[in-house]
Amino acid sequence: MGETGKEKSKGLVVVIAAVAAVGGLLFGFDTGVISGALLFIKKEWALLPISQEFVVSAVLVGAILGAALSGKLADRFGRRRIIIATAVIFAVGSFATALAHSVDMLILGRIVIGIAIGVASFTVPLYISEISPAKMRGALVSLNQLAITIGIVASYVIDDFFAGTVHGWRYMFAMGVVPAVILGVGMLFLSETPRWLVRQNKLDEARHVVRALSGNENVEEDIDSIKDSLALESGTSWSELAQPWLRLPLFIGVGLMFIQQVTGINTVIYYAPTIFQMAGFSSEVVAITATVGVGVVNVLMTIVSIWLIDRIGRKPLMYIGLTGIVITLGLLGLGFKEQAVLGGALKWATVASVILYIASFAVSLGPICWLIISEIYPLKIRGLAMSIATMSNWLFNFFVALTFLTLVQKLTAAGAFWLYAIVGVIGLIFCYYFVPETKGHSLEKIEEHFKLMKSPRDL
Ligand code: BGC
Repeated sequence: MGETGKEKSKGLVVVIAAVAAVGGLLFGFDTGVISGALLFIKKEWALLPISQEFVVSAVLVGAILGAALSGKLADRFGRRRIIIATAVIFAVGSFATALAHSVDMLILGRIVIGIAIGVASFTVPLYISEISPAKMRGALVSLNQLAITIGIVASYVIDDFFAGTVHGWRYMFAMGVVPAVILGVGMLFLSETPRWLVRQNKLDEARHVVRALSGNENVEEDIDSIKDSLALESGTSWSELAQPWLRLPLFIGVGLMFIQQVTGINTVIYYAPTIFQMAGFSSEVVAITATVGVGVVNVLMTIVSIWLIDRIGRKPLMYIGLTGIVITLGLLGLGFKEQAVLGGALKWATVASVILYIASFAVSLGPICWLIISEIYPLKIRGLAMSIATMSNWLFNFFVALTFLTLVQKLTAAGAFWLYAIVGVIGLIFCYYFVPETKGHSLEKIEEHFKLMKSPRDL
């Protein structure tokens, strides 16, 4: 096939990745929407902090479950079918929460949505990485993180739009149906990944898909190389993970997720309007509007990070971002501690610190933790190891969401933010000793390095 065939196939890959990334959009939308909705729900049903924490973290319980199940489900039924099922569950969950007439029903609906998020957080990047040609894989996988941040900002804008409406929170949740329908319908037109088809021995179908994706007529070489790598993968089991040389990359993956979550990112994502109210903005509408600003900065700085990641490398971005995170958390804490002195200025100091904090996160921990877990595991255990890291991400997320308001009550807001700042300092040390600079290295070279049990610092 000529150049036009290649051009066409490139376009096709981008369209496919974009549709699949709507899964990331839903992930972001459904986690972000609670921030604004919570202000109204807690008023309408007079919720205590502990009930608020349950409403927020129910999604995370579901996500832990979803992430745990997703590897097996995607292998058994195929990536495409699972993503379609996820879209349906998203839609059902959105309706259930929009119509909820009790806290219990709301919590149940949020758990259902969470299961879909957990499955999507693993299956969508897997689908994209299996369908993309190697050269474009990094950028296309990062599209998922970008979609997550766009989903979050969309949820803030929608929260903002409905903030003044009676029963506004119900509309906020109901809007989740829109991207769910786009994802479900879009996926109906897309194909299964060649890798899964070969695994199921559906070779003709696999050839057909590879032909369309690569723009080449002769695809036997591609099919053979998929067969080879599948042969390598077979027999992966938990016992495989116990090999001494694999312990370090596993530790690095889980450690990165600990730092990504326990520096408090989601207290900002879920509770930003609540934080702004604590800082002195009395109107819900203003608090939610300030939150939209936070979401936009998150998207923009993620784009900056994707642009820089292969130029200046992962570690420099991590150092810059983590330093910013520690400083801004320190300032946030200080602002709350000196509330009496700062008076009305506190709210603006808070907005500035939160915006600088989110910018620091978006250039570093946001995209890089997900990227590194897709790079440091040998092919043979990649699926399993990535799902362990994904699950640990949701577990730490759950732990932080469930404890934030209680921490504020027990330690004050200043104490809570300073505690997260200490984790940021641990993150800097962790990054120095344990995070390898994967920029420009082939996956085989990274694997070899770990196999020889050399220090990650020396990669
Ligand atoms: C994190 C999420 C977070 C989001 C914010 C992701 O990388 O895993 O927990 O809500 O970034 O942009």
